[in-house]
Amino acid sequence: MAGGECVKVEMMDMRRLFLGLDLSTQSLTAVVIDRSGDFIEQFSINFDERYPSYKTEGGVLIGEDPTVAHSDPNMWMEALGDMLLLLKEKELTRQICSIAVSAQQHGSVYLNASFEEKLSSLNPSLSMSQQLNTIFSRSTAPIWMDSSTNAECREITEALGGGTAVAQLTGSRATERFAGPQIRKFWKEKPKDYENTAHIALISSFATSLLAGIIAPIDGGDGYGTNLADIQGSQWSGQALSAIAPDLKARLPKLVPQDEIVGNVSDYLSERFDFLPETAVVIGSGDNPCSLVGLGLIGETGHQAVSLGTSDTYFGYLPELAVSDQGEGHIFGSADGKYMALLCFKNGSLARETIKDRFNLSWVEFSELLMNTRPGNAGQIMLPYFSPEITPLVLNPRVWRFGELSEPEKAGNVRAVAEAQILSMYLHSEWMGTRPQTILVTAGGSENRGLLKVISQVFNVEVHSFEVKDSAALGAAIRATHCCLNRLGEVVSWRDLTDRYVRDKVTEKIKPDQDAVRVFHGENGLLEVYKACEQYALGSGKDPEDKIKKFKRIYCS
Ligand code: XUL
Repeated sequence: MAGGECVKVEMMDMRRLFLGLDLSTQSLTAVVIDRSGDFIEQFSINFDERYPSYKTEGGVLIGEDPTVAHSDPNMWMEALGDMLLLLKEKELTRQICSIAVSAQQHGSVYLNASFEEKLSSLNPSLSMSQQLNTIFSRSTAPIWMDSSTNAECREITEALGGGTAVAQLTGSRATERFAGPQIRKFWKEKPKDYENTAHIALISSFATSLLAGIIAPIDGGDGYGTNLADIQGSQWSGQALSAIAPDLKARLPKLVPQDEIVGNVSDYLSERFDFLPETAVVIGSGDNPCSLVGLGLIGETGHQAVSLGTSDTYFGYLPELAVSDQGEGHIFGSADGKYMALLCFKNGSLARETIKDRFNLSWVEFSELLMNTRPGNAGQIMLPYFSPEITPLVLNPRVWRFGELSEPEKAGNVRAVAEAQILSMYLHSEWMGTRPQTILVTAGGSENRGLLKVISQVFNVEVHSFEVKDSAALGAAIRATHCCLNRLGEVVSWRDLTDRYVRDKVTEKIKPDQDAVRVFHGENGLLEVYKACEQYALGSGKDPEDKIKKFKRIYCS
Protein backbone atom coordinates (compact mmCIF):
# COMPACT_ATOMS: atom_id res chain seq x y z
CA MET A 1 0.00 0.00 0.00
CA ALA A 2 1.19 3.53 -0.73
CA GLY A 3 2.22 5.68 2.23
CA GLY A 4 2.41 2.93 4.89
CA GLU A 5 1.52 3.74 8.46
CA CYS A 6 3.70 3.11 11.47
CA VAL A 7 1.80 2.15 14.61
CA LYS A 8 1.82 4.94 17.16
CA VAL A 9 1.54 2.77 20.26
CA GLU A 10 4.57 0.78 19.24
CA MET A 11 6.52 3.93 18.52
CA MET A 12 6.13 5.28 22.03
CA ASP A 13 8.46 2.53 23.09
CA MET A 14 12.02 3.83 23.11
CA ARG A 15 13.30 0.38 22.25
CA ARG A 16 11.90 0.55 18.72
CA LEU A 17 14.61 0.27 16.10
CA PHE A 18 15.34 1.50 12.56
CA LEU A 19 17.16 -0.45 9.88
CA GLY A 20 19.46 0.77 7.09
CA LEU A 21 20.61 -1.74 4.47
CA ASP A 22 23.50 -0.87 2.16
CA LEU A 23 23.81 -3.04 -0.93
CA SER A 24 27.28 -2.08 -2.09
CA THR A 25 29.44 -3.60 -4.83
CA GLN A 26 31.19 -6.06 -2.55
CA SER A 27 28.84 -6.64 0.37
CA LEU A 28 25.51 -6.10 2.04
CA THR A 29 25.65 -4.22 5.33
CA ALA A 30 22.87 -3.74 7.85
CA VAL A 31 22.98 -0.98 10.46
CA VAL A 32 20.33 -1.02 13.20
CA ILE A 33 19.89 2.07 15.37
CA ASP A 34 17.56 3.01 18.19
CA ARG A 35 16.00 6.38 18.90
CA SER A 36 18.51 7.54 21.46
CA GLY A 37 21.64 6.90 19.41
CA ASP A 38 22.99 4.60 22.15
CA PHE A 39 22.34 1.38 20.29
CA ILE A 40 24.04 0.68 17.01
CA GLU A 41 24.44 -2.85 15.67
CA GLN A 42 26.09 -3.69 12.40
CA PHE A 43 26.27 -6.86 10.29
CA SER A 44 27.87 -7.53 6.95
CA ILE A 45 27.79 -10.24 4.28
CA ASN A 46 30.69 -10.31 1.84
CA PHE A 47 29.54 -11.58 -1.57
CA ASP A 48 32.77 -13.27 -2.75
CA GLU A 49 33.16 -15.16 0.53
CA ARG A 50 29.55 -16.10 1.14
CA TYR A 51 28.44 -16.93 -2.42
CA PRO A 52 31.41 -18.50 -4.24
CA SER A 53 29.07 -20.17 -6.76
CA TYR A 54 28.51 -16.79 -8.44
CA LYS A 55 32.26 -16.58 -9.12
CA THR A 56 32.54 -12.86 -8.42
CA GLU A 57 35.60 -10.74 -7.76
CA GLY A 58 34.76 -7.88 -5.43
CA GLY A 59 31.09 -8.67 -6.12
CA VAL A 60 31.49 -8.29 -9.89
CA LEU A 61 31.14 -11.12 -12.42
CA ILE A 62 34.41 -11.92 -14.11
CA GLY A 63 34.25 -11.50 -17.89
CA GLU A 64 36.44 -11.15 -20.94
CA ASP A 65 35.90 -7.48 -21.75
CA PRO A 66 37.55 -5.20 -19.14
CA THR A 67 35.11 -2.38 -19.93
CA VAL A 68 32.12 -4.52 -18.96
CA ALA A 69 31.15 -4.85 -15.29
CA HIS A 70 27.98 -6.73 -14.35
CA SER A 71 26.65 -8.45 -11.23
CA ASP A 72 23.99 -11.09 -10.74
CA PRO A 73 20.80 -9.72 -9.15
CA ASN A 74 20.02 -13.24 -7.84
CA MET A 75 23.06 -12.89 -5.61
CA TRP A 76 21.71 -9.63 -4.18
CA MET A 77 18.35 -11.32 -3.53
CA GLU A 78 20.05 -14.20 -1.80
CA ALA A 79 22.09 -11.84 0.37
CA LEU A 80 19.01 -9.81 1.30
CA GLY A 81 17.16 -12.97 2.39
CA ASP A 82 20.18 -14.17 4.40
CA MET A 83 20.61 -10.80 6.10
CA LEU A 84 16.95 -10.65 7.11
CA LEU A 85 17.21 -14.19 8.53
CA LEU A 86 20.25 -13.12 10.53
CA LEU A 87 18.37 -10.10 11.93
CA LYS A 88 15.49 -12.40 12.82
CA GLU A 89 17.83 -14.80 14.63
CA LYS A 90 19.17 -11.83 16.61
CA GLU A 91 15.55 -11.04 17.55
CA LEU A 92 15.81 -7.59 15.99
CA THR A 93 13.25 -7.71 13.17
CA ARG A 94 10.20 -7.51 15.44
CA GLN A 95 11.47 -4.30 16.99
CA ILE A 96 12.09 -2.53 13.70
CA CYS A 97 9.77 0.34 12.90
CA SER A 98 11.07 1.30 9.45
CA ILE A 99 13.64 0.26 6.86
CA ALA A 100 15.50 2.17 4.14
CA VAL A 101 17.84 0.86 1.47
CA SER A 102 21.07 2.41 0.20
CA ALA A 103 22.67 0.86 -2.88
CA GLN A 104 25.62 1.29 -5.21
CA GLN A 105 24.47 3.88 -7.75
CA HIS A 106 23.85 3.67 -11.50
CA GLY A 107 23.30 -0.11 -11.83
CA SER A 108 20.08 -1.20 -13.59
CA VAL A 109 17.94 -4.35 -13.16
CA TYR A 110 15.72 -5.63 -16.00
CA LEU A 111 12.47 -7.41 -15.06
CA ASN A 112 9.84 -9.24 -17.09
CA ALA A 113 6.05 -8.99 -16.82
CA SER A 114 5.81 -11.72 -14.15
CA PHE A 115 7.68 -9.63 -11.56
CA GLU A 116 4.75 -7.87 -9.94
CA GLU A 117 2.56 -10.95 -9.65
CA LYS A 118 5.33 -13.18 -8.33
CA LEU A 119 6.40 -10.54 -5.82
CA SER A 120 2.94 -10.39 -4.31
CA SER A 121 2.42 -14.16 -4.05
CA LEU A 122 5.60 -15.38 -2.38
CA ASN A 123 5.46 -18.47 -0.17
CA PRO A 124 7.01 -17.61 3.23
CA SER A 125 8.44 -21.06 3.72
CA LEU A 126 10.74 -20.65 0.71
CA SER A 127 13.52 -18.18 0.00
CA MET A 128 13.08 -15.19 -2.36
CA SER A 129 15.89 -16.34 -4.60
CA GLN A 130 14.22 -19.77 -5.03
CA GLN A 131 10.93 -18.22 -6.05
CA LEU A 132 12.02 -15.15 -8.00
CA ASN A 133 14.78 -16.49 -10.22
CA THR A 134 12.60 -16.23 -13.34
CA ILE A 135 11.68 -12.55 -12.99
CA PHE A 136 14.62 -11.20 -14.98
CA SER A 137 14.51 -10.27 -18.66
CA ARG A 138 18.29 -9.78 -18.53
CA SER A 139 20.18 -12.24 -16.37
CA THR A 140 22.81 -9.78 -15.19
CA ALA A 141 22.80 -6.12 -14.16
CA PRO A 142 25.36 -3.61 -15.48
CA ILE A 143 26.88 -1.74 -12.53
CA TRP A 144 28.72 1.55 -11.91
CA MET A 145 32.12 0.09 -12.85
CA ASP A 146 30.99 -0.56 -16.42
CA SER A 147 32.47 1.76 -19.05
CA SER A 148 31.34 -0.08 -22.19
CA THR A 149 28.81 2.48 -23.46
CA ASN A 150 31.01 5.16 -24.98
CA ALA A 151 29.27 4.88 -28.37
CA GLU A 152 25.83 5.25 -26.72
CA CYS A 153 27.05 8.28 -24.73
CA ARG A 154 28.10 9.94 -27.96
CA GLU A 155 24.73 9.18 -29.58
CA ILE A 156 22.80 10.55 -26.60
CA THR A 157 24.99 13.67 -26.49
CA GLU A 158 24.38 14.34 -30.15
CA ALA A 159 20.63 13.75 -29.89
CA LEU A 160 20.33 16.14 -26.94
CA GLY A 161 22.42 18.96 -28.40
CA GLY A 162 25.88 18.52 -26.85
CA GLY A 163 27.55 17.71 -23.53
CA THR A 164 26.66 20.94 -21.76
CA ALA A 165 23.01 20.60 -22.78
CA VAL A 166 22.89 17.04 -21.42
CA ALA A 167 24.47 18.20 -18.16
CA GLN A 168 22.06 21.14 -17.81
CA LEU A 169 19.08 18.85 -18.39
CA THR A 170 20.05 15.70 -16.49
CA GLY A 171 22.71 16.88 -14.00
CA SER A 172 25.59 15.05 -15.71
CA ARG A 173 27.13 14.66 -19.14
CA ALA A 174 26.19 11.38 -20.82
CA THR A 175 28.14 9.05 -18.57
CA GLU A 176 29.16 5.48 -19.44
CA ARG A 177 28.19 3.89 -16.13
CA PHE A 178 24.76 5.56 -15.90
CA ALA A 179 21.54 3.61 -16.51
CA GLY A 180 20.49 5.70 -19.56
CA PRO A 181 23.43 4.76 -21.82
CA GLN A 182 23.29 1.20 -20.43
CA ILE A 183 19.61 0.85 -21.35
CA ARG A 184 20.34 2.18 -24.83
CA LYS A 185 23.09 -0.40 -25.32
CA PHE A 186 20.75 -3.21 -24.14
CA TRP A 187 18.01 -2.06 -26.52
CA LYS A 188 20.47 -1.87 -29.46
CA GLU A 189 22.12 -5.23 -28.78
CA LYS A 190 19.15 -7.27 -27.52
CA PRO A 191 15.96 -5.67 -28.90
CA LYS A 192 13.86 -8.80 -28.18
CA ASP A 193 14.99 -8.91 -24.55
CA TYR A 194 14.27 -5.19 -24.26
CA GLU A 195 10.82 -5.90 -25.64
CA ASN A 196 10.35 -8.53 -22.89
CA THR A 197 11.37 -6.04 -20.22
CA ALA A 198 8.30 -4.75 -18.40
CA HIS A 199 10.15 -2.86 -15.66
CA ILE A 200 13.58 -1.33 -15.27
CA ALA A 201 14.72 -0.73 -11.70
CA LEU A 202 17.81 0.83 -10.17
CA ILE A 203 19.49 -1.40 -7.60
CA SER A 204 18.07 0.71 -4.75
CA SER A 205 14.50 0.49 -6.06
CA PHE A 206 14.85 -3.23 -6.86
CA ALA A 207 15.86 -4.04 -3.27
CA THR A 208 13.10 -1.77 -1.95
CA SER A 209 10.56 -3.63 -4.11
CA LEU A 210 11.68 -6.90 -2.54
CA LEU A 211 11.02 -5.47 0.92
CA ALA A 212 7.69 -3.83 0.20
CA GLY A 213 6.31 -6.37 -2.27
CA ILE A 214 5.40 -3.67 -4.80
CA ILE A 215 7.17 -1.95 -7.67
CA ALA A 216 8.99 0.72 -5.73
CA PRO A 217 9.54 4.26 -7.03
CA ILE A 218 13.02 5.68 -7.64
CA ASP A 219 14.22 8.66 -5.61
CA GLY A 220 16.06 11.73 -6.89
CA GLY A 221 19.20 10.65 -5.02
CA ASP A 222 19.61 7.70 -7.33
CA GLY A 223 17.29 8.69 -10.18
CA TYR A 224 19.17 11.87 -11.13
CA GLY A 225 22.31 9.78 -11.68
CA THR A 226 20.88 8.11 -14.78
CA ASN A 227 20.88 10.72 -17.60
CA LEU A 228 17.12 10.04 -17.72
CA ALA A 229 15.70 12.75 -15.48
CA ASP A 230 14.98 16.41 -15.90
CA ILE A 231 16.54 17.52 -12.63
CA GLN A 232 14.78 20.90 -12.54
CA GLY A 233 11.34 19.41 -13.13
CA SER A 234 12.03 16.40 -10.84
CA GLN A 235 10.60 13.99 -13.40
CA TRP A 236 11.72 11.67 -16.16
CA SER A 237 12.66 13.80 -19.15
CA GLY A 238 10.64 12.92 -22.28
CA GLN A 239 13.47 14.37 -24.37
CA ALA A 240 16.13 12.22 -22.69
CA LEU A 241 14.00 9.06 -22.73
CA SER A 242 13.39 9.35 -26.45
CA ALA A 243 17.13 9.77 -27.06
CA ILE A 244 17.70 6.49 -25.24
CA ALA A 245 15.20 3.78 -26.18
CA PRO A 246 11.59 3.45 -27.40
CA ASP A 247 8.69 3.17 -24.92
CA LEU A 248 11.00 3.67 -22.00
CA LYS A 249 8.61 5.68 -19.81
CA ALA A 250 6.25 2.71 -19.44
CA ARG A 251 9.12 0.63 -18.11
CA LEU A 252 10.24 3.06 -15.43
CA PRO A 253 8.66 3.45 -12.01
CA LYS A 254 7.67 6.85 -10.65
CA LEU A 255 10.45 9.31 -9.85
CA VAL A 256 10.07 10.88 -6.39
CA PRO A 257 12.29 13.86 -5.52
CA GLN A 258 12.16 13.56 -1.76
CA ASP A 259 12.15 10.85 0.92
CA GLU A 260 8.78 9.26 1.59
CA ILE A 261 7.36 6.01 2.90
CA VAL A 262 6.47 3.77 -0.05
CA GLY A 263 4.50 1.16 1.87
CA ASN A 264 4.71 -1.41 4.62
CA VAL A 265 6.77 -4.58 4.50
CA SER A 266 5.20 -7.31 2.36
CA ASP A 267 3.25 -10.16 3.95
CA TYR A 268 6.13 -12.39 2.90
CA LEU A 269 8.57 -10.31 4.94
CA SER A 270 6.45 -10.25 8.04
CA GLU A 271 5.67 -13.97 7.88
CA ARG A 272 9.12 -15.24 6.99
CA PHE A 273 11.31 -12.83 8.94
CA ASP A 274 9.01 -11.85 11.81
CA PHE A 275 8.63 -8.14 11.03
CA LEU A 276 5.49 -6.47 12.37
CA PRO A 277 3.16 -6.01 9.37
CA GLU A 278 3.10 -2.24 9.92
CA THR A 279 6.88 -1.87 9.58
CA ALA A 280 7.31 0.98 7.10
CA VAL A 281 9.55 0.84 4.02
CA VAL A 282 11.13 4.15 3.02
CA ILE A 283 12.11 4.88 -0.59
CA GLY A 284 15.56 3.50 -1.51
CA SER A 285 18.46 5.76 -2.50
CA GLY A 286 22.02 5.72 -3.81
CA ASP A 287 25.01 5.16 -1.55
CA ASN A 288 26.33 8.69 -2.09
CA PRO A 289 23.11 10.52 -1.11
CA CYS A 290 22.91 8.13 1.87
CA SER A 291 26.52 8.90 2.83
CA LEU A 292 25.64 12.60 2.70
CA VAL A 293 23.14 11.85 5.47
CA GLY A 294 25.43 9.38 7.27
CA LEU A 295 28.20 11.98 7.48
CA GLY A 296 25.83 14.62 8.82
CA LEU A 297 26.09 16.82 5.72
CA ILE A 298 22.44 17.05 4.71
CA GLY A 299 21.29 20.65 5.01
CA GLU A 300 24.87 21.75 5.76
CA THR A 301 26.63 24.12 3.40
CA GLY A 302 29.63 24.81 5.60
CA HIS A 303 31.08 21.33 5.27
CA GLN A 304 31.98 19.09 2.40
CA ALA A 305 33.34 15.56 2.27
CA VAL A 306 36.34 13.95 0.67
CA SER A 307 36.30 10.18 0.47
CA LEU A 308 39.74 8.76 -0.20
CA GLY A 309 39.00 5.30 -1.54
CA THR A 310 39.89 3.35 -4.67
CA SER A 311 38.61 6.40 -6.50
CA ASP A 312 38.49 9.68 -4.61
CA THR A 313 35.21 11.54 -4.38
CA TYR A 314 34.47 15.09 -3.31
CA PHE A 315 30.87 15.84 -2.45
CA GLY A 316 28.61 18.21 -0.64
CA TYR A 317 25.06 19.41 -0.16
CA LEU A 318 23.61 21.96 -2.58
CA PRO A 319 20.62 23.95 -1.32
CA GLU A 320 20.23 25.51 -4.79
CA LEU A 321 20.77 23.78 -8.07
CA ALA A 322 24.15 24.55 -9.70
CA VAL A 323 25.55 22.74 -12.72
CA SER A 324 29.10 23.06 -13.98
CA ASP A 325 29.45 24.89 -17.33
CA GLN A 326 32.10 22.38 -18.27
CA GLY A 327 29.74 19.52 -17.39
CA GLU A 328 32.06 18.40 -14.61
CA GLY A 329 30.77 16.22 -11.81
CA HIS A 330 27.27 15.03 -11.13
CA ILE A 331 24.16 16.39 -9.51
CA PHE A 332 22.07 13.94 -7.50
CA GLY A 333 19.01 14.62 -5.38
CA SER A 334 19.27 14.70 -1.61
CA ALA A 335 16.83 13.15 0.85
CA ASP A 336 15.23 16.54 1.64
CA GLY A 337 14.31 17.20 -1.99
CA LYS A 338 17.32 19.46 -2.64
CA TYR A 339 20.57 18.44 -4.30
CA MET A 340 24.09 17.20 -3.79
CA ALA A 341 27.11 17.57 -6.04
CA LEU A 342 29.72 14.88 -6.49
CA LEU A 343 33.03 14.77 -8.30
CA CYS A 344 34.76 11.49 -8.95
CA PHE A 345 38.54 11.20 -9.44
CA LYS A 346 39.36 7.77 -10.79
CA ASN A 347 43.11 7.95 -10.09
CA GLY A 348 42.62 8.03 -6.34
CA SER A 349 44.33 5.60 -4.02
CA LEU A 350 45.57 3.54 -6.95
CA ALA A 351 47.75 6.44 -8.11
CA ARG A 352 49.03 6.99 -4.56
CA GLU A 353 49.68 3.29 -4.24
CA THR A 354 51.63 3.15 -7.50
CA ILE A 355 54.01 5.81 -6.17
CA LYS A 356 54.18 4.17 -2.72
CA ASP A 357 55.06 0.80 -4.26
CA ARG A 358 57.52 2.33 -6.74
CA PHE A 359 59.64 3.44 -3.75
CA ASN A 360 58.86 0.41 -1.52
CA LEU A 361 57.22 2.62 1.09
CA SER A 362 54.67 1.75 3.76
CA TRP A 363 51.68 4.07 4.12
CA VAL A 364 53.22 5.39 7.34
CA GLU A 365 56.43 6.30 5.47
CA PHE A 366 54.37 7.85 2.64
CA SER A 367 52.57 10.00 5.21
CA GLU A 368 55.83 10.93 6.98
CA LEU A 369 57.38 12.08 3.70
CA LEU A 370 54.38 14.34 3.19
CA MET A 371 54.70 15.73 6.70
CA ASN A 372 58.42 16.42 6.23
CA THR A 373 58.52 17.99 2.75
CA ARG A 374 57.81 21.59 1.89
CA PRO A 375 54.46 22.70 0.43
CA GLY A 376 54.89 23.63 -3.22
CA ASN A 377 57.40 20.80 -3.73
CA ALA A 378 60.07 23.22 -5.03
CA GLY A 379 57.93 23.70 -8.15
CA GLN A 380 57.92 20.00 -9.05
CA ILE A 381 54.51 19.06 -10.42
CA MET A 382 52.87 15.83 -11.52
CA LEU A 383 49.65 15.16 -13.42
CA PRO A 384 48.95 11.64 -12.16
CA TYR A 385 46.82 10.14 -14.94
CA PHE A 386 48.00 6.58 -14.40
CA SER A 387 44.71 5.31 -15.86
CA PRO A 388 41.96 7.19 -17.77
CA GLU A 389 40.68 10.01 -15.60
CA ILE A 390 37.07 11.14 -15.07
CA THR A 391 37.93 14.61 -13.65
CA PRO A 392 39.28 16.21 -15.77
CA LEU A 393 38.30 13.95 -18.64
CA VAL A 394 41.47 12.18 -19.84
CA LEU A 395 40.88 9.22 -22.12
CA ASN A 396 44.51 8.50 -22.95
CA PRO A 397 46.36 8.00 -19.68
CA ARG A 398 49.80 9.48 -19.19
CA VAL A 399 51.77 10.64 -16.16
CA TRP A 400 53.13 14.15 -16.73
CA ARG A 401 56.05 15.60 -14.76
CA PHE A 402 56.98 19.30 -14.76
CA GLY A 403 59.53 21.52 -13.00
CA GLU A 404 62.42 19.05 -13.20
CA LEU A 405 60.60 16.37 -11.25
CA SER A 406 62.57 13.26 -12.06
CA GLU A 407 60.93 9.86 -12.02
CA PRO A 408 63.35 8.27 -9.48
CA GLU A 409 63.04 11.13 -6.94
CA LYS A 410 61.22 9.61 -3.95
CA ALA A 411 60.12 12.56 -1.79
CA GLY A 412 59.38 14.77 -4.80
CA ASN A 413 57.08 12.18 -6.38
CA VAL A 414 55.24 11.43 -3.14
CA ARG A 415 54.55 15.11 -2.56
CA ALA A 416 53.75 15.70 -6.24
CA VAL A 417 51.08 12.99 -6.45
CA ALA A 418 49.38 14.19 -3.24
CA GLU A 419 49.48 17.90 -4.15
CA ALA A 420 48.22 17.17 -7.68
CA GLN A 421 45.22 15.21 -6.47
CA ILE A 422 44.15 17.82 -3.96
CA LEU A 423 44.83 20.79 -6.27
CA SER A 424 42.71 19.08 -8.91
CA MET A 425 39.92 18.58 -6.37
CA TYR A 426 40.10 22.27 -5.46
CA LEU A 427 40.09 23.51 -9.06
CA HIS A 428 37.34 21.26 -10.34
CA SER A 429 34.99 21.89 -7.43
CA GLU A 430 34.95 25.65 -8.01
CA TRP A 431 31.56 25.50 -9.79
CA MET A 432 29.93 24.09 -6.65
CA GLY A 433 29.83 27.65 -5.24
CA THR A 434 30.71 28.61 -1.68
CA ARG A 435 33.82 26.98 -0.31
CA PRO A 436 33.39 24.92 2.86
CA GLN A 437 34.76 25.93 6.27
CA THR A 438 35.42 22.30 7.11
CA ILE A 439 36.19 19.21 5.08
CA LEU A 440 35.35 15.80 6.47
CA VAL A 441 37.69 13.11 5.21
CA THR A 442 36.58 9.48 5.18
CA ALA A 443 37.55 6.06 3.83
CA GLY A 444 40.97 4.36 3.72
CA GLY A 445 43.11 7.43 2.99
CA SER A 446 41.65 9.34 5.96
CA GLU A 447 44.24 7.67 8.19
CA ASN A 448 47.05 9.29 6.20
CA ARG A 449 47.89 12.37 8.29
CA GLY A 450 50.20 13.78 5.63
CA LEU A 451 47.39 13.75 3.10
CA LEU A 452 45.01 15.42 5.53
CA LYS A 453 47.58 18.17 6.02
CA VAL A 454 47.83 18.76 2.27
CA ILE A 455 44.02 19.00 2.04
CA SER A 456 43.92 21.60 4.83
CA GLN A 457 46.66 23.64 3.10
CA VAL A 458 45.21 23.53 -0.42
CA PHE A 459 41.61 24.22 0.67
CA ASN A 460 42.62 26.55 3.53
CA VAL A 461 40.14 24.83 5.82
CA GLU A 462 40.05 22.80 8.98
CA VAL A 463 40.08 19.11 8.09
CA HIS A 464 38.27 16.54 10.21
CA SER A 465 39.16 12.93 9.84
CA PHE A 466 35.98 11.02 10.30
CA GLU A 467 35.47 7.58 11.79
CA VAL A 468 32.27 6.39 10.15
CA LYS A 469 32.97 3.05 8.55
CA ASP A 470 29.62 2.50 6.87
CA SER A 471 28.31 5.98 6.31
CA ALA A 472 25.92 4.82 3.56
CA ALA A 473 24.24 2.16 5.73
CA LEU A 474 24.10 4.55 8.69
CA GLY A 475 22.66 7.22 6.38
CA ALA A 476 19.96 4.79 5.25
CA ALA A 477 19.10 3.99 8.88
CA ILE A 478 18.87 7.72 9.66
CA ARG A 479 16.62 8.20 6.60
CA ALA A 480 14.39 5.41 7.92
CA THR A 481 14.24 7.14 11.32
CA HIS A 482 13.56 10.58 9.86
CA CYS A 483 10.68 9.46 7.66
CA CYS A 484 9.07 7.32 10.30
CA LEU A 485 9.24 9.80 13.20
CA ASN A 486 8.00 12.67 11.07
CA ARG A 487 5.15 10.50 9.83
CA LEU A 488 4.20 9.99 13.46
CA GLY A 489 4.03 13.71 13.97
CA GLU A 490 7.21 13.88 16.03
CA VAL A 491 8.96 16.65 14.15
CA VAL A 492 12.66 15.80 13.98
CA SER A 493 15.07 17.74 11.81
CA TRP A 494 18.01 16.23 9.93
CA ARG A 495 20.23 18.18 12.30
CA ASP A 496 18.59 16.57 15.36
CA LEU A 497 19.31 13.16 13.93
CA THR A 498 22.82 13.77 12.69
CA ASP A 499 23.71 15.33 16.06
CA ARG A 500 22.46 12.13 17.65
CA TYR A 501 24.17 9.61 15.38
CA VAL A 502 27.12 11.27 13.68
CA ARG A 503 28.72 14.29 15.35
CA ASP A 504 31.03 12.57 17.81
CA LYS A 505 32.76 10.48 15.15
CA VAL A 506 35.55 13.00 14.41
CA THR A 507 38.93 11.42 15.23
CA GLU A 508 41.30 14.22 14.29
CA LYS A 509 41.19 17.93 13.43
CA ILE A 510 43.90 19.63 11.40
CA LYS A 511 44.12 23.39 10.97
CA PRO A 512 45.72 24.93 7.88
CA ASP A 513 49.15 26.45 8.28
CA GLN A 514 48.98 29.95 6.74
CA ASP A 515 52.53 29.99 5.28
CA ALA A 516 51.64 26.84 3.36
CA VAL A 517 48.29 28.28 2.27
CA ARG A 518 50.15 31.26 0.75
CA VAL A 519 52.28 28.92 -1.38
CA PHE A 520 49.12 27.57 -3.00
CA HIS A 521 46.87 30.65 -3.04
CA GLY A 522 49.32 33.58 -3.24
CA GLU A 523 49.87 35.50 -6.48
CA ASN A 524 51.63 33.22 -8.99
CA GLY A 525 51.14 30.44 -6.43
CA LEU A 526 51.00 26.73 -7.11
CA LEU A 527 47.26 26.70 -7.80
CA GLU A 528 47.78 28.96 -10.83
CA VAL A 529 50.80 26.97 -11.94
CA TYR A 530 49.01 23.62 -11.61
CA LYS A 531 46.07 24.94 -13.62
CA ALA A 532 48.46 26.00 -16.39
CA CYS A 533 50.09 22.54 -16.40
CA GLU A 534 46.70 20.86 -16.63
CA GLN A 535 45.54 23.11 -19.47
CA TYR A 536 48.78 22.45 -21.33
CA ALA A 537 48.41 18.67 -20.92
CA LEU A 538 44.79 18.79 -22.07
CA GLY A 539 45.81 20.73 -25.18
CA SER A 540 44.25 24.07 -24.28
CA GLY A 541 47.13 26.07 -22.82
CA LYS A 542 50.72 27.10 -23.48
CA ASP A 543 53.91 25.62 -22.02
CA PRO A 544 53.82 26.32 -18.25
CA GLU A 545 57.64 26.45 -17.75
CA ASP A 546 57.74 30.27 -17.38
CA LYS A 547 55.07 30.13 -14.69
CA ILE A 548 56.97 27.39 -12.89
CA LYS A 549 60.21 29.46 -12.95
CA LYS A 550 58.39 32.47 -11.55
CA PHE A 551 56.83 30.29 -8.82
CA LYS A 552 60.26 28.99 -7.85
CA ARG A 553 61.71 32.53 -7.69
CA ILE A 554 58.95 33.74 -5.39
CA TYR A 555 58.28 30.72 -3.19
CA CYS A 556 61.29 28.43 -3.23
CA SER A 557 64.34 30.53 -2.52
C1 XUL B 1 29.21 7.59 -8.00
C2 XUL B 1 29.61 6.19 -8.27
C3 XUL B 1 29.99 5.34 -7.12
C4 XUL B 1 28.98 4.27 -6.83
C5 XUL B 1 29.68 3.27 -5.91
O1 XUL B 1 28.85 8.28 -9.15
O2 XUL B 1 29.66 5.74 -9.37
O3 XUL B 1 30.24 6.10 -5.97
O4 XUL B 1 27.81 4.78 -6.31
O5 XUL B 1 28.92 2.59 -5.08
